[in-house]
Amino acid sequence: MPPIQSRLPHIGTTIFTTMSRLAQQHGAINLGQGFPSFQPHPDLIALVTEAMVAGHNQYAPMEGLMTLREAISNKNLLGYGYQPDPVSEITVCSGGTEALFAAIATCITAPGDEVILLQPCYDSYGPAILLNGGVPRYSDLLYPTYSPDWDHIRQLINPKTKAIVINTPHNPTGTIWSTDDIQQLGRLAEAHDLIIIADEVYEHITFDGRQHESILRYPDLYERAIVIHSFGKTYHATGFKLGYALAPAHLTAELRKIHQYLTFASFTPLQHALATFLGQTEHYLGLSAFYQTKRDQMLSAFAPTPLVPLDCEGTYFQLYDYTALSNLPDKDFAIELTTAAGVTGIPVSSFYHQGNDQRLLRFCFAKDEALMQAAADKIMAYANR
Ligand SMILES: Cc1ncc(COP(=O)(O)O)c(C=O)c1O
Repeated sequence: MPPIQSRLPHIGTTIFTTMSRLAQQHGAINLGQGFPSFQPHPDLIALVTEAMVAGHNQYAPMEGLMTLREAISNKNLLGYGYQPDPVSEITVCSGGTEALFAAIATCITAPGDEVILLQPCYDSYGPAILLNGGVPRYSDLLYPTYSPDWDHIRQLINPKTKAIVINTPHNPTGTIWSTDDIQQLGRLAEAHDLIIIADEVYEHITFDGRQHESILRYPDLYERAIVIHSFGKTYHATGFKLGYALAPAHLTAELRKIHQYLTFASFTPLQHALATFLGQTEHYLGLSAFYQTKRDQMLSAFAPTPLVPLDCEGTYFQLYDYTALSNLPDKDFAIELTTAAGVTGIPVSSFYHQGNDQRLLRFCFAKDEALMQAAADKIMAYANR
């Protein structure tokens, strides 16, 4: 057998797979992995089916179907006041994860180039940097508000720093960036000539009247940015794996060179379907209200339990402090809650490079109300055991 040296020696199966597997083994209610327990809109499913029946089953153009790119362009004009050029600024990718990988690969131009990550963060960023020969440099968001520590971020910057990844609305904490955060980011990026990779896959899920601060609202920042969106979160279809990257033409040209060798093109029938479905704006404009109701359902179902919620301003994740119930480290408590109570959440330490443990679990509320109530009842039974 030829010896193989791991490219990612410290990385095993993701916590989402591990916890979902454990949930299945123990018949637990899985509020861990972030996927909706309900179906995409029937019109979208019908449009995908129609596209397949109509014969749209061969390769789409590498950069995405033109009609879809035009629809994306109009959508962003409507939402953020900026109209990206469908020819040179929009690339349809196989989900936000592929778009992120291509974005990161675009920024790392020499081995050892550094990319700043603000943790806790989505788990694909670090490995994508490593696989491209770069070095992730981590700065902790300040608990419990999870605001960026600008002084620390500034200290991390050196001539090898090429980019910073931001994520708003933020998984796993549910926080969203303010105008002030974006302005601070802009000053920093400009002073040090950094590319901003903005992960905005939860762009349509913000609560209590808060506005999503897309980079597209800030022309000076967009000039140095790659903005990532995903249809999976917006249309209750995480398994569709379709998203896109928006970036000025010079960055898009480089990103496409990478995208064309990662996947070349993405799922054609869905691109046809979404080119039409994006025009029905009510589906995404109503998403914040839809998920705010779900967040409030989880908050009220869990209120009688000893779990204490942190503020949730966006996304479909709610963090809970469980210290009134247990002193176990969060990974151990996640296992305990799955096996003994029958409810699965994700330990927040797994979103940290070095496993910072604030005794928090992340629960997904993209679920039916009855399921969340059943989970709350199980936690109560466990608390009263
Ligand atoms: C913050 C964040 N970015 C990106 C993604 C990936 O999006 P997609 O499923 O479209 O690849 C996710 C999915 O959970 C996410 O939470």
